[in-house]
Amino acid sequence: MSADLEQIKVIGVLGAGQMGAGIAQVAATVGYQVLLADISLERSEQGKAGVEKQLTRSVVKERITEAQKTEILGRLTPVGGMEALSGADFVVEAATENEELKLKLFAQLDEYCAPHAILATNTSSIPITRIAAATTRPHKVIGMHFMNPVPVMKLVEVIKGLATDEETYELTEALAAKMGKTTVLARDMPGFIVNRILMPMINEAVTALYEGIGSREDIDAGMKLGTNQPMGPLTLADFIGLDTCLAIMEVLHEGMGDSKYRPCPLLKQYVDAGWMGRKSGRGFYEY
Ligand code: CAA
Repeated sequence: MSADLEQIKVIGVLGAGQMGAGIAQVAATVGYQVLLADISLERSEQGKAGVEKQLTRSVVKERITEAQKTEILGRLTPVGGMEALSGADFVVEAATENEELKLKLFAQLDEYCAPHAILATNTSSIPITRIAAATTRPHKVIGMHFMNPVPVMKLVEVIKGLATDEETYELTEALAAKMGKTTVLARDMPGFIVNRILMPMINEAVTALYEGIGSREDIDAGMKLGTNQPMGPLTLADFIGLDTCLAIMEVLHEGMGDSKYRPCPLLKQYVDAGWMGRKSGRGFYEY
């Protein structure tokens, strides 16, 4: 790989939720200065507090020392608003999975960030080409899709938009490798690789529940023990967030125009009820 990672000194992360905080944690752990931005400083600070909690667990498990924890946290600076990302060489956007919002954020990032900065999105399903078109630097926009929980999961899915140039791609690959991740390259088509396959499976598990094929426990145990998955599909849906699962199914349904991607009515109903999974205290299970 010929990409010169030396040109990347500061990583900006936009969105300090579970994904953004995880990305910030990994970037700071491998030595980058990280600016963690959200709509308010308070939210960014909450993201950093979450990272601190994870690092404390690592200290307890004797994976890192207290001094290393302090160093990592010292490289992670919470900031309010995205203007502060002007100092970043590489930005990963990890805001809510909403197309309108992402298009707006990318137009703003384009305005605030230095001309050399690469703008990556952690979108799980929105077309990179469309997000790139909201900027004046579509050749420097790329998909960098991390998996949840970011510090644990080995994969980063890399997605080139139609205009993404080779240098941007090579730098993204090199950065992912430095972050300890293995990459796969996906075409910019709905759901890319992982969600194109994962979400229809989850949606089918919800349909099996809807049709009374099995109880939630039996559907999960069937898939967990029968196909060696770490979590059953309904547990995994609760972990990902049912609103996110529904949003991805809708992108697949619309983008492919094929009824086989129709979101299960039960999934829609749970989201209507506010049962979003683990984060709301209730999904297919109670937490
Ligand atoms: N953040 C950081 N670390 C975490 C974590 C979190 N949220 N949750 C668990 N871990 C760590 C634990 O500390 C533990 O670390 P050690 O082994 O070093 O002690 C390790 O992960 C295993 O955790 P547990 O023993 O508590 O539990 P587990 O063995 O059941 O593993 C799991 C938990 C890693 C989440 C596992 O159940 C798993 O791999 N589940 C599937 C996750 C998955 O499929 N993710 C992808 C979702 S799809 C996606 O993200 C893309 C999208 O666009 C929707």
